[in-house]
Formats: sequence, structure tokens, C-alpha cells
Amino acid sequence: MSRRALLAGNWKMNGLRQDVRWLKVLAEAMPDFPVDIDIVLCPPATLIAQMAQECPDWLALGGQDCAAHAKGAYTGDISPVMLADLGCRYVIVGHSERRTGHAETDQKVCAKVEAARAAELIPIICVGESLEQREQGKAVSVITDQMIASLPGGMSAHAVVIAYEPVWAIGTGKTATPEDAQIMHQALRTAWPGEDGDALRLLYGGSVKPSNVFELMAQPDIDGALAGGASLEVKDFAALIRSLIVS
Ligand code: 13P
Repeated sequence: MSRRALLAGNWKMNGLRQDVRWLKVLAEAMPDFPVDIDIVLCPPATLIAQMAQECPDWLALGGQDCAAHAKGAYTGDISPVMLADLGCRYVIVGHSERRTGHAETDQKVCAKVEAARAAELIPIICVGESLEQREQGKAVSVITDQMIASLPGGMSAHAVVIAYEPVWAIGTGKTATPEDAQIMHQALRTAWPGEDGDALRLLYGGSVKPSNVFELMAQPDIDGALAGGASLEVKDFAALIRSLIVS
């Protein structure tokens, strides 16, 4: 089955209003051949409204996290309804920096996914093992358990994206080998609880760079990438786009 490739950039807590011009610079750097992949940028929430006004139609916006509720007394939180209202189509949920830094459990992630679905956003659910879990031989069970526990009942594979981000590879310059990443992605597809696992889009994240993305994308179960550091520089992000288009 052919799945449409997806490249997502996660700016994390980077970017000021002046950096909205990144959109214009990217548009100028885009390849002059058709872009038949999905491209998503997840800037900090503070920039979404301004970016939505300047966003070209080939780029979708996403949030980096959302609340598990549509509205209410949740000081500081941003609801998926608010993200959709700003023009977002996607939202990252369960990033390891949220799981560890904000004590997010699978149950919490699942509630956020449910809320995102209700707001008609596509959740990008992140899963990933720590180095310790990998060394204990638990990597596959950790990520498949995380995925299953983060999914509300009846989730369609068309309505969600799963990102495999090994914790030890995030921001470290270390990347899973393409072969190892393939094993992990294949395990996630096999563990998908529905009948439609072939349609599930699986991204790799963790020190993705223009120099390693092509080999990763050549793996049969890797459908795209979730880039952190490499999404901040237009030059690198444009190079990732080119690699995904040709792979
Ligand atoms: P880096 O690409 O900077 O390693 O970050 C990956 C990530 O966490 C994307 O969500």
C-alpha cells in the first residue's frame, strides 16, 4: 500500500515573531517540482496565529501539545479546539519532553488524543524508549505498549500519525540505524490494533538531518520524519523536503 509521505517540523520552545519570515524564506527555497508530500510545521503556540495568516497552502500548521479538554478552568493550557480555530490541522501529543518534563502518562496522552480527535485535528502521537529500556531489551514492548495505551477506542489509522522517537536520539546527534528504525516501525505497524494498519503513517524522529533522512526513508515502514533541530534552519528543512519528495 502506498502511504503519502509526511514531514513535520517541531520548533519546540524556539522562535520569536521575527522568525515568522521563515515561511517566506522556505517558500523561496522550495523545489520547483511538484510537492506531493504532506508538510507540517509545529511552531510555538505564540506564533500560530501570525503564521496562519502567512502560511502557503502546501504547508499545514500543528500545535506541539494540547489540553485534554475543549475548554474550562485549566490555566495555561491550550485546547485542541483553540488550535483548530487558529487553523491548525495537526497536534503533537505525548512527546517525550512532555512525558518526562510534565509527567504525562499514557492515560493522559490518550485523553489528549481523544480531545484532538473531537476537534478534528490529526494527532501525531510520539512514542519512544529510553537508552536504559533499550539496553534491557525492552524497546519494542515499551513503544508498542505506549502506542496502544495512547489510542482511544475505534481510532482509524487514517486519522492519526505515530512518531517513533527514541529518547536517546532526540537532540543528541545520535540516530537509530535505518535497519533498527525499520524494526521498530514494523513492530508498531504490526501492533496496530485495527484492521487498517497498512494505512498507518509512521514517522521517525531523533536527530533527523539532511545527511541521514534518505536512508531512513528508504525503509518500507518509515513514511516520514519528525525533525526538531533540522526544522529551525530553512536550508535544512528544505533539504529534508527534497529528500522526502524523491524517496
Ligand atoms: P531533534 O531532531 O532535534 O533530535 O528533535 C527530535 C524531536 O524531538 C522532534 O519532535
